[in-house]
Amino acid sequence: MDTAAKMTIDPVAQFASDVRAGLCKTGQKELPSKYLYDPLGFTLFEAISQLPEYGLTRADERLLRRHSMEIVRHVPSPALVSELGSGSGRKTRWILRALCEREPVSYYPIEISRTALASCESELGDIDCVSIVGIEREYLDGLREVAALRADGVHLLVLFLGSTIGNFDSGADARFLSGVRSVLARGDSLLLGADLLKPIERMIEAYDDPLGVTAAFNLNLLGRINRELDGDFDLRQFEHVARFNEATRSIEMHLRSKRRQVVNVGRGGFAATFAAGETIWTESSHKYTRREIVELAASSGFRQEAQWVDDEWPFAESLLLAV
Ligand code: AVJ
Repeated sequence: MDTAAKMTIDPVAQFASDVRAGLCKTGQKELPSKYLYDPLGFTLFEAISQLPEYGLTRADERLLRRHSMEIVRHVPSPALVSELGSGSGRKTRWILRALCEREPVSYYPIEISRTALASCESELGDIDCVSIVGIEREYLDGLREVAALRADGVHLLVLFLGSTIGNFDSGADARFLSGVRSVLARGDSLLLGADLLKPIERMIEAYDDPLGVTAAFNLNLLGRINRELDGDFDLRQFEHVARFNEATRSIEMHLRSKRRQVVNVGRGGFAATFAAGETIWTESSHKYTRREIVELAASSGFRQEAQWVDDEWPFAESLLLAV
């Protein structure tokens, strides 16, 4: 019997139970941000990354394009590359191409979104010296699987780009990186992309764009609950809210109920009541300072070797070495 299959919980059942827990709790209702990325959500995020107000993805890609040669110079050879949350795979091309200048590369993108994996495989499949094996797992489970494949003397380069690290609650980012570190060996490296603190108006514009793409991205989470869990959310009765939480230095996305209403979620086996003005917290996107990244690395078993910052949109690419 295949143990991996036996241990996997049905993803729809997991989604239902997370939604139930988040919407039935007292106090601030919440939904995990990872569920924003169904096929439609993934496509809406791709649109967000082209918005003039949302410079994050372009800054990330610019840094990787401009500095790829210098970045890979810090990575010992031979290396095996794995990426946590590959997304479309576009930015990764620069790193893979730079590594290819010295050796053939095995690349293992880890994604819970099948759509993202497929996009990544077709985006990067044309690079001759790269062999791609997509892994449809949660990040740490996938990374353990990759680490088990490595031969003696091979170094792991883990990519964690796009400031996904900012979506963890404060404290959980360090715990997560410690988890990554525990799978790695001394001398392995982690390339971490993190969005930096900037003026509040600029941050709010990026998460509350005038076209309403981010609003659609956020509201789609309720649409997904309707589609996959037989919910009856009326999307017109909720509105997108983006606010900056000064205490946690995070942009928070919420969905605000326009009136008092009761929503049924058939496959969740529950109904949730919303007061007028009550919100569901759907995402936090923490904004780092450069010093904070150095400290985050140190507290999770890494040392920052180098850091590159974009000059148009404050964003940092940090190369961390497992110590
Ligand atoms: C994909 C996690 C980088 O936090 O900025 C974009 C997702 N949310 N607009 C972010 C997102 C709203 C995004 N990351």
